[in-house]
Amino acid sequence: MRAPVSESFTHTQNALACDGVSIESIVERVGTPVYVYSARAVRDAFREMDAAFAACPHAIHYGMKANSTLALVRLLHSIGSKVDANSRGEIEVALRAGYRPRDIVFTGVGKTRDELEHAIAADIGVINAESAGELDRIDALASGQGREARVALRVNPDIDACSHPNISTGLRINKFGVPLPQARAIYRERRSQKSLRFVGVHVHIGSQITTADPLRHAAAAAATLASELQSDGVALEHVDIGGGLGIPYEGRPMIGAADYAAAVIPELRRTGLPVLLEPGRAIVGRAGALVARVVDTKRYTGGRQFAVLDAGMAELMRPALYGSFHRIVPVRPPRGAETSWDVVGPICESSDVFARDRLLPPLEVDDLVAILDAGAYGSAMASNYNRHLLPAEVLVDQGRWALIRRRQTIDDMLALES
Ligand code: LLP
Repeated sequence: MRAPVSESFTHTQNALACDGVSIESIVERVGTPVYVYSARAVRDAFREMDAAFAACPHAIHYGMKANSTLALVRLLHSIGSKVDANSRGEIEVALRAGYRPRDIVFTGVGKTRDELEHAIAADIGVINAESAGELDRIDALASGQGREARVALRVNPDIDACSHPNISTGLRINKFGVPLPQARAIYRERRSQKSLRFVGVHVHIGSQITTADPLRHAAAAAATLASELQSDGVALEHVDIGGGLGIPYEGRPMIGAADYAAAVIPELRRTGLPVLLEPGRAIVGRAGALVARVVDTKRYTGGRQFAVLDAGMAELMRPALYGSFHRIVPVRPPRGAETSWDVVGPICESSDVFARDRLLPPLEVDDLVAILDAGAYGSAMASNYNRHLLPAEVLVDQGRWALIRRRQTIDDMLALES
């Protein structure tokens, strides 16, 4: 069980700091809203996962969809991570961050012909195919290029991840992968295709998984299939168990990398194959905060009080989309007793709410607040909705900070329009 505190964002010298660097000093220079990331937290999370799996040969393919800002992807490259990319765009980011094509796993339901052609031509490490049809399209494209594509099949084991339904992917009703019982035949029927080389088995049952059992069952399902395929003579090189390990948004203890490894390794060991992991959130989620400014406050008779921020669902969509909980902390120390607040964004939708009935100290216009655990699926899911400009992003490392993405300008935003 891991400690229920944010290790990177703490109050020092009377105001919030990220690894000792004052949030106010960052905001003075770059304004709000801004995503602030701790490089130390990213490294620590990666190393924790790596150490947890030390008992078996493994590779960590960071799930770029969680956050593919170039500097973070480069940071992960520098400490030995590999990547899981979900689109041509993510593959290009990975290549520009210094990854070799062989370090990339390409997953994704609905890869286009253009994406597949590029992945095959680049000799991507493995393409995780989502259907028999996709395998056949890969075969045809690879044969047209006179190449052999390295592929795996994503299986859907019909296991409930016990997470939010919008981010559970391993049930029969979900669009992902092929039903487990059909998988062996799909491999068998295609194993002699000249342009396909089956190197793995892939499973990913969902995200923000907070108990070990679904992860264990998914790993067991993948391992069983891998063993069957090995006995069929398929020369597999790995079992890919996807991502999914959650983080303690509520600040309460929950399973961590060591519990995850302890649950899945015994299942996977019987294949004798190296394990591939695709964690996203567990690597970057806790490393980032979204810092915003209070732009209005109001109290209704009857007691409801609102703090309106300059960031909303355009900058962090998770609460609006999944009803997700994020801790919110004032940057300055509390100036009075806590009362109940609705902390909301400026977007013209009633779903644009970060927190309802949250106990917080008095908030005033111009106060800064940090929305914690926004490193994963924050900036990656941000949009220009209501013509909000994409925020700046800052990376704190060893007592210094650097702007890793400047704030979008109106001209940037309109550059594509005539
Ligand atoms: N591998 C595959 C094939 C995936 O689809 C995903 C996430 C991952 C790995 C990484 O999963 P993670 O370790 O981060 O759980 N926007 C949602 C999460 C969507 C997850 C999509 N797939 C959220 O904000 O909670």
